[in-house]
Order: sequence, then C-alpha cells, then structure tokens
Amino acid sequence: MDANILKFIFHDLQTIEGYIDPPDALVFLALLQYQASVGFEGTVAEIGVYYGRSYFLFRRICGDQERIVAIDLFDIDSASKGSEQYLKFVENGRRLGLPVQENLVIKGDSTLLKAADISAKAGLVRFFSIDGGHMLHHVISDTHLAADTLADHGIIAFDDTFNPTWPEVTVGVGDFLREQEGAYAVFCITKYKTYVCRQAFHAGYSAAIAASADLSAFGHVETEFLGSKATRLENPMRRRLVHQLLVRSGMSIFAERAYR
Ligand SMILES: C[S@@+](CC[C@H](N)C(=O)[O-])C[C@H]1O[C@@H](n2cnc3c(N)ncnc32)[C@H](O)[C@@H]1O
Repeated sequence: MDANILKFIFHDLQTIEGYIDPPDALVFLALLQYQASVGFEGTVAEIGVYYGRSYFLFRRICGDQERIVAIDLFDIDSASKGSEQYLKFVENGRRLGLPVQENLVIKGDSTLLKAADISAKAGLVRFFSIDGGHMLHHVISDTHLAADTLADHGIIAFDDTFNPTWPEVTVGVGDFLREQEGAYAVFCITKYKTYVCRQAFHAGYSAAIAASADLSAFGHVETEFLGSKATRLENPMRRRLVHQLLVRSGMSIFAERAYR
C-alpha cells in the first residue's frame, strides 16, 4: 500500500471543495490499481468536475502522463471576467502540484457532446466518472456518451445513485442497464456511487473489490441489481462521524485511522 496516496486521500483531497468522500476515493484507487495490474489500457474521463476533487484523485493515482478528459459547464460562479469555477479548478491543481491538462478540458454542456469529441482527445476510456447534470435527460445522454467511448474493459462510475435528492439519476442508470439487456453489469454500490462494467469483466472487477486491502474496513454485502450481483460497501455511521470530526477539527492527517 502506498501510504502517500492514503495521506493524499484523507488530507490533501479534503482541501478541495467537492464531493468524493474517502470510501469512493478508496474504491477508485482499488479499481485503477487493478486495471494497471492486469494491463487494461485507456484513459480517464469525467463529466462534472466542479473544483476537481475527483479529477485530482485520478491525477494523483494515475500520474502525470495519464490523459484525463475533464468536462464541465464551469459556470457555477461565473464572474464578469470569466469562470471563477474554472480558475479555481486550475489553481487547485497548481497548489497540489498536479497541474490540469488544459488542452483536455471541455467547457460546455455534456449533453451536446459527441463521442468523437472525447475520443479525439483521449482515445478509448478505461474509467468514466459521471457526475454532471442530475436529471434524467442528462444521465441518459452522459451514459451513452460514456458507453460509446468506453474500452471493452472500461468502467463507468455513476455519482448520486440512490440519493433521494436526485431520484432521476437512479432511474437513468436503471433505464440504461435494462436497455442494454445485460451487456453491462453493476459490480459495486456505495452510499453515493454505482460502478458498472461490461458483463465479461464483472468477475474480475468484483474480485478486485473483494481483494482490496484498502476496502477491508468496510462491510462487504452481496446485493442484486437488475440481474447482476454487486458488492454493497457499507460504511458504519460511527466511522463516518469519527472521520468528519477529525476533518472538521483540523486533524485530517489522522482521519485515515477511522478507516482502519
Ligand atoms: C456535483 S458537481 C461534481 C463534483 C465533482 N465530481 C467532485 O469530485 O467534486 C456537478 C458538476 O456538474 C456540472 N454540470 C452540471 N450540468 C452539466 C452539464 N450539462 N454538462 C457539463 N457539466 C455539468 C456542474 O457545473 C458541476 O460542476
């Protein structure tokens, strides 16, 4: 295990405003490490970058050479002189020593993109994170974009599934899985995200989740979702509270202990 990556996840990443929490950051780590260990090639793409919390996690795990396509409207706090959101994203990269590859950033509405817009920048994608617009039409469009650019062995991570605030995300994922008639299978579900791959790779990704030492602190519960067996990773409330307390009291450096 790379202790520095854990320090990055539990400390440095928490300084970026955003939405990936340690459990999913550890799942990203396990999956990217598995892909590297079995030689799965391809790039990374993310719809919904915000200020870069997951983007910098990808960058830190995958290294400087990895192509990461970053797609966002970047209009959350537009100022008259330009997008503050975009400037903060780039500045966060500078501060963390993980510069943004600005030539691979697509500023705009993901639902207007074509698969070729992504492949032209990155070829086939091995890890596609979908965390942009959260209404049904966004999820349908983003999912097709991901499926059309995904390497055979690639995975799609959907954010905010089963979140009552955004019910249409779950509908969109379910619609996609049913429309694809078993071509894709869910292999992991966390409190916030659902992880999907093509059927032939389900066993490998499931085994990677089961074998990851970094995920051993979580409960692994088998569940079924639209015909696939998925591992639901449970993070007990007590642990989440201890973690939040440590972060809020400025002791994020110790926060990983809550997950041991
Ligand atoms: C929840 S935030 C993403 C959080 C981010 N993944 C992280 O790790 O912190 C959602 C982002 O999606 C972007 N977004 C919303 N609708 C979009 C669209 N149609 N196309 C592109 N980006 C969109 C927003 O600008 C916002 O930055």
